[in-house]
Amino acid sequence: MSVFDSPVHSCLWEVPISAPQSFKVSGSLALAPDYEEDAPTADVVVPDYLEKTYWWAYVRPWAIRIFEREWLVDLILWGCYKLLRDAALRVFGDHLPGRTVQLSCVYGSLTKLLYAKVEASGGSLDVVDVVKPQLENLQRKLPPGNKVRRLNMDVSKLSLPDASYDRAMLFFLMHEQPRDVREATLREAFRIVKPGGDVLILEFAKPKWWHPLRYLWLPFLAILEPFAPDIWNHEDVSAWLPQPWASRITHREKLFGSFYQVLMIKA
Ligand SMILES: C[S@@+](CC[C@H](N)C(=O)[O-])C[C@H]1O[C@@H](n2cnc3c(N)ncnc32)[C@H](O)[C@@H]1O
Repeated sequence: MSVFDSPVHSCLWEVPISAPQSFKVSGSLALAPDYEEDAPTADVVVPDYLEKTYWWAYVRPWAIRIFEREWLVDLILWGCYKLLRDAALRVFGDHLPGRTVQLSCVYGSLTKLLYAKVEASGGSLDVVDVVKPQLENLQRKLPPGNKVRRLNMDVSKLSLPDASYDRAMLFFLMHEQPRDVREATLREAFRIVKPGGDVLILEFAKPKWWHPLRYLWLPFLAILEPFAPDIWNHEDVSAWLPQPWASRITHREKLFGSFYQVLMIKA
């Protein structure tokens, strides 16, 4: 049974690009042949933590226009954007058939490059984000006529069927979420990925004791990204993985003096 045949399909929708910014989203760009045009409406509410903490980085359309610059994201990631983007693409591999989902938008060229690999493999790519202007921004970065489905949903409560994807990617999402939302997001990721599929996580990590940023960056992080220091209190993100997945890590890599981590986990 395809994901679109299942009853949960009626909960799927894609952002109508011309819809008013009310977060009442309905309809579709009709990418799947059997998509129901009159899918029920659903409320997509920007979570409090995102609005309160990250309105200046992700929520306001003017903020998206400012931050959608690869050199700026690179600066924020201490010159490591390409290293991290390429690590994500390398660990996922070149052959990406079937269904891939990226849980939340990211600035820069990652999604465009991921889509190129997915398309070359004959697969499909969905990108989920709770902020509709983020999905509109993504569409501007993708090639004209692309078939990426943009799903306006909260990643911690996805209206997507169980075991419907072959792989999922979370690129620097978890450190921006309060612990309960982070754990709910991981549960959702493992619910929607098929058993034997892959979940790829890129995140901050606790830097080595000798890393200068361990002492210089933490105070700033605590102010700008209040949920991020919690990531540093744990050896790696497997601390938040529900069982049995915590013991199913197939790739673990630390980058830039352990400032960043890359984890691949079998669903
Ligand atoms: C993945 S992170 C940022 C990654 C990294 N800083 C970058 O841009 O390269 C930011 C995205 O996550 C989205 N986001 C945060 N919480 C979310 C949630 N609960 N559901 C869906 N999207 C969420 C934000 O709207 C934003 O587009």
